[in-house]
Amino acid sequence: MNITLHNITKKYGDKTVLSIDQLEFKTGTVTGIIGPNGSGKSTLMRIISGIDKEYTGCLNIDGHEINQEICKNMTLVFQKPYLINTDVYNNIAYPLKIRGVSKLEMNRKIENMIELLQLKEIIRQSARTLSGGEMQRVALARAIVFEPRLLLLDEPTSNIDPKTMQLMESAIKYINKCCNTTVVLVTHNIRQLRRVCTEAVFMQEGKVVERDLVKDVLNRLDEDFIGDFLEKELPI
Ligand SMILES: Nc1ncnc2c1ncn2[C@@H]1O[C@H](COP(=O)(O)OP(=O)(O)OP(=O)(O)O)[C@@H](O)[C@H]1O
Ligand SMILES: [Mg+2]
Repeated sequence: MNITLHNITKKYGDKTVLSIDQLEFKTGTVTGIIGPNGSGKSTLMRIISGIDKEYTGCLNIDGHEINQEICKNMTLVFQKPYLINTDVYNNIAYPLKIRGVSKLEMNRKIENMIELLQLKEIIRQSARTLSGGEMQRVALARAIVFEPRLLLLDEPTSNIDPKTMQLMESAIKYINKCCNTTVVLVTHNIRQLRRVCTEAVFMQEGKVVERDLVKDVLNRLDEDFIGDFLEKELPI
């Protein structure tokens, strides 16, 4: 999916939290959104996903305004993932059920996710009892199991151990490659940005300050300054 934004403004009362003249995410690209706390990253994700409709300006997806068909083909993984109150299997099955996928196809796709994200041991566990990191892994599985054309990820690997992070990053890259899924990933991890994304958007105070290939954006930003909002010292 190709996403274009023009003159997007989002306000809370008198406070403008997002002000974007122009921004495009091309089909099949993996873009990292970086920037300090409160710079509008999650706000931008909620607007693109269609969850937040209280803004002015123009958002187009494949040349259309958001409609049901577009929503069926995209998903957002929240900064704090929420799961439905059932077991892991049924959480992952849910997006397939509501899209009318056959039982056979459903089992095949879920098996694929179990392998990709190593969910075998927790597949029948109640989602309520999962650890934070397990929840994030299940939330990612549920997001990619229906092969979305647009995958929006808001800090999907915060508080994740290095091994699980690798697993999740591989799953993100896998879905991008196999389905040409457009991926927009909010992250505070500079190494993750380098590993997963080809392009980067740097936001500050609701505005897009830099937008280019990852290496070019990082080259243009002062190193100390980057350290203020990216966890560059993480071992992974
Ligand atoms: N419901 C609200 N009412 C008032 N202000 C809000 C509301 N929701 C968000 N904001 C403000 O909008 C700004 C942007 O918030 P947003 O969550 O998009 O930031 P962020 O870049 O995702 O930050 P973080 O890195 O901490 O996740 C912040 O200043 C926040 O306080
Ligand atoms: Mg946020």
